Amino acid sequence: MTNDALSDFHPRPMRIEFAADLPRLWNADDAFATHYMNALSLLFPTGEKFFIDAVRAYRDRISDPRLTAEIRAFIGQEGWHRSVHADYNAWLEHCGLPAAELDERAARKIAFIKSKLPPRGWLAATVCLEHFTAMMAKDLLSNPALTANMHPTMRQVWIWHAMEELEHKAVAFDVYQATGGKYSTRVKAMLFVSVNFAIDTLRNLIALLRAEGKLWSPRVWWRGAGFLFGRSPGVFWRTLPGWFAFFRPSFHPNDDDDRALIREAREKAGLSAPLGTDTP
Ligand SMILES: [Fe+2]
Ligand SMILES: [Fe+2]
Repeated sequence: MTNDALSDFHPRPMRIEFAADLPRLWNADDAFATHYMNALSLLFPTGEKFFIDAVRAYRDRISDPRLTAEIRAFIGQEGWHRSVHADYNAWLEHCGLPAAELDERAARKIAFIKSKLPPRGWLAATVCLEHFTAMMAKDLLSNPALTANMHPTMRQVWIWHAMEELEHKAVAFDVYQATGGKYSTRVKAMLFVSVNFAIDTLRNLIALLRAEGKLWSPRVWWRGAGFLFGRSPGVFWRTLPGWFAFFRPSFHPNDDDDRALIREAREKAGLSAPLGTDTP
């Protein structure tokens, strides 16, 4: 058995063509719903490089062959996510949106954080951000209405990415625990990460809506408020229990069993078959 066979998940090479005629408001023809997702996409190439660097810094201290195989699969998956989202973001730039500028802003912030924190801090922040991506991924895959009106190209991107985030959601956490990460550090990291993730997403969203000429549209923000905080319930209320769960001392990402959801998404996206090279 190779090390790779020890992991239940693998990198899936993915090349997506973001065609010039892809509709600019690709998510339900809605400026808020489209640019909210675009705002997240603009954080991924830099953010996912940070996750890879954080886990790599601890890879040599892991002796469990299963976790070693999962780290390899994690790095491969995040590498493919970066590659696809870089192409996605280049398409945004092509649409006249300030994607390169926002990507550079994210890169500067991450470089600053990396210079101020030791690798333990990078890993604690990665554990927290991986929990965020897992919560958002679960929400996306559990609510078909969120993807029903996406352009098929974008639906493929987001379902593929969400499914792989659920597959590898415990890897950074397991590395953190196996290398002596403390509860108090991950709690402090979660408070720091929550504030900064909200600020960075909102700043990107505002910049994109401004470029779209919709920043001051009451209708856009009314719909956005419903999307995030509505009583249906909105995404904020749906993910809040998962955020609180992280603060339990005994928390583990796999407390929440997503295997059925992952299987369903694999089938829906036609992604049950593996695999190819580990890196884009
Ligand atoms: Fe990812
Ligand atoms: Fe991830």
